[in-house]
Amino acid sequence: MKDSGYEVAVFAGDGTGPEVVREGLRVLDALGEGGSAPWHYSQYPGGGQYYLRTGREWEPEAEAAAAAADAIMVGAVGWPGATLPNGDLAGRALVLGLREGLDLYANVRPCKLYPGVRHRISGEYSQVWAPKNVDMVIVRENTEDLYTPARGRLRRGGSTEVAIDTRIITRKGSERVIRYAFELARARTRGAPGDGVRRLTCVDKSNVMEGCRFFRETFDRVAAEYPEIDRDYAYVDAFAQWLVRNPEQYNVVVATNMMGDIITDLAAVLQGGMGFAAGGNIGTDHALFETVHGSAPKYAGKNQVNPFATFFAVEQMLRWLGGRHGDARLLGQADRLERSLARTLAEGTTRTYDQGGTLTTSEAGDRVTAAIRSEAR
Ligand code: IPM
Ligand code: MN
Repeated sequence: MKDSGYEVAVFAGDGTGPEVVREGLRVLDALGEGGSAPWHYSQYPGGGQYYLRTGREWEPEAEAAAAAADAIMVGAVGWPGATLPNGDLAGRALVLGLREGLDLYANVRPCKLYPGVRHRISGEYSQVWAPKNVDMVIVRENTEDLYTPARGRLRRGGSTEVAIDTRIITRKGSERVIRYAFELARARTRGAPGDGVRRLTCVDKSNVMEGCRFFRETFDRVAAEYPEIDRDYAYVDAFAQWLVRNPEQYNVVVATNMMGDIITDLAAVLQGGMGFAAGGNIGTDHALFETVHGSAPKYAGKNQVNPFATFFAVEQMLRWLGGRHGDARLLGQADRLERSLARTLAEGTTRTYDQGGTLTTSEAGDRVTAAIRSEAR
């Protein structure tokens, strides 16, 4: 932290990333009005489109700024045709690279349905899930599993015969993310919406896979330190249907990387769609906050996409910074932002196209910044 306050390195990235990040920064500005904001942000270019223009995913200064910042914000990365020579997604450095490089081991994805938000199922807007029943956090391991870059192809006579991805599950990687999830379950005093029980669900496929058996054993070992938290187990396939059928039984959920990637997209449907899903990539000394949705190339530049995921990412960032530095100003601003978001959504008229409305991205931003200005500090 410098004299100017907490330094945030911002990467708008590809596609619709710049549009939603622009609104996210307006929200930060609105929160900081009328007093000296205890944060400062700088933006850096990077991503797949940048790679197509320059041959580089980002600049060395940007990478250094990310490592030096108090927090990092990323819009989205990925662009059709933007691929590195080895076949990887161009722009991966900004997300997967930082997860690995800064050891951001817990990917923390809240899934809460706010009153006023609709969800679309089978092309219809409906209210299958009641807001009171959807309030959980999915914690995804973020540094290993099938995402470990231990992979390759076996080529014979110029043609590929075999492609191999290695699933690596370590004691250290499992233990720290499981402990993070138990701590979160302990801190969330209201517990699961259905029964108020502080519960941690371990999602795995330990009936088949060795890595998952190891993950579950680690879960049990760590669980012994948290006798007040209800231990719950679900095979990932069964979890997929319980999540949809009985979301109210979930409080905090912990999963390995790849399964966590899949179940958080499924869970996003319960919270109104990807337009609302945000995630924090948390390490010991660094954290990166982002939207869970991608760069949505089809909508890029149209000022149409839902910026709420970015607003929730900003809230998560303020909360993390406030908690880490014991700074009540930031925690207060995070609460103020959440109240403003909840109030705006509850009115039921701030709807972008994904919610069946016609508001533009920046109009949704106007509503939220107005709500912030009228919301007491
Ligand atoms: C996510 C995304 C990333 C992932 C992609 C962009 C590599 O889907 O953050 O969930 O797979 O982790
Ligand atoms: Mn994903």
